[in-house]
Amino acid sequence: MSSSTEQTHTPAAAMPDYLIRHVTLRQLQVFESIVRLGSFTRAAEELFLTQPTVSMQIKKLADSMGLPLFEHVGRNVRPTEAGLELYQSCRKIFDTIANLEMKMADLKGMKRGRLRLGIITTAKYFLPTVLGEFCQNYPGIEVALEVFNRHRIIERIIANEDDLYIMGQAPSDQLDVEAFQFAPNPLVVMAPRDHPLVGKKKIPLARIAEEPFILREPGSGTRDATLKVFGQQGLRPHVRMDLGSNEAIKHAIVGGLGLSVLSLHTLILEGTDGPVAVLDVEDFPIMRQLYIVYPRTKELSLVAHAFLEYVLDNESRRRKRMQKLWPQLAKYLQNEQPAEGTARKKKRRD
Ligand code: PGA
Repeated sequence: MSSSTEQTHTPAAAMPDYLIRHVTLRQLQVFESIVRLGSFTRAAEELFLTQPTVSMQIKKLADSMGLPLFEHVGRNVRPTEAGLELYQSCRKIFDTIANLEMKMADLKGMKRGRLRLGIITTAKYFLPTVLGEFCQNYPGIEVALEVFNRHRIIERIIANEDDLYIMGQAPSDQLDVEAFQFAPNPLVVMAPRDHPLVGKKKIPLARIAEEPFILREPGSGTRDATLKVFGQQGLRPHVRMDLGSNEAIKHAIVGGLGLSVLSLHTLILEGTDGPVAVLDVEDFPIMRQLYIVYPRTKELSLVAHAFLEYVLDNESRRRKRMQKLWPQLAKYLQNEQPAEGTARKKKRRD
């Protein structure tokens, strides 16, 4: 509960209403220059103004103050007592404005600011590391990171809820977006390490369709891509359960509940020699890419721009990291062509 005595607002009466309405910052700038240089002529030169303009500005300022501001001493001028008072105030006003300008420059210079990211579940396996590196360069930046499936990310783009989005496949067919590829996102078939199919070569997809299968929830891009590949061969996986979390699916695989298709990124911590094995299946991996996306009409903040640049500049590092995680990836990456309309491009701010 707040009472009127707790109010912290500056009372309206403290506003110098008369001066605000009659005095301009330009007049004060002209006045300050004359006092500092001791001459109307030099002030006019410094400010690239004509002398009549300078004289007029000072006349208006003196009228607003209600007192003369200068007296003539030979060819020069010097401030009156009122002029000296005004000069002190001018210094304070200009110091405050310079300070404000610096703070704004800091904000623009990204020493401070907020970055809002909406990312698909797959990106949460590496994005915190990327953010960690980025924030070392820009320690004042506050990051809000939200993780959703593809369907929810598309809703967030439409509602303009974040600065940038990370997706597996640009939604260019549905939305007018800028989209930049920045990392491979292969979807692979996963099995428990002791499964009889582990180590077999070129397993037909029909064989996988016989196994119990764990599928991501409706709305997931991983799910859609997986069902599409099965559908292209006239197959359907033998779905035992839908699960809304990559981590839960990995545990379910290890627990023997079934096979699944997930992004290779989900194995980033334990690697491909851990309890979850990657199977060699025909038509796999599904070679998707991760995209950093934003609506084409959106004016990116400087922080968002810097992050976009940072992510794109580190593309090859991420590619190498994925190849180290799963060396077979190299041969698929060689055959990779950027999808039409989504070729990687870089945007730089001048
Ligand atoms: P998902 O995103 O979290 O919706 O499965 C992954 C993707 O679209 O590749």
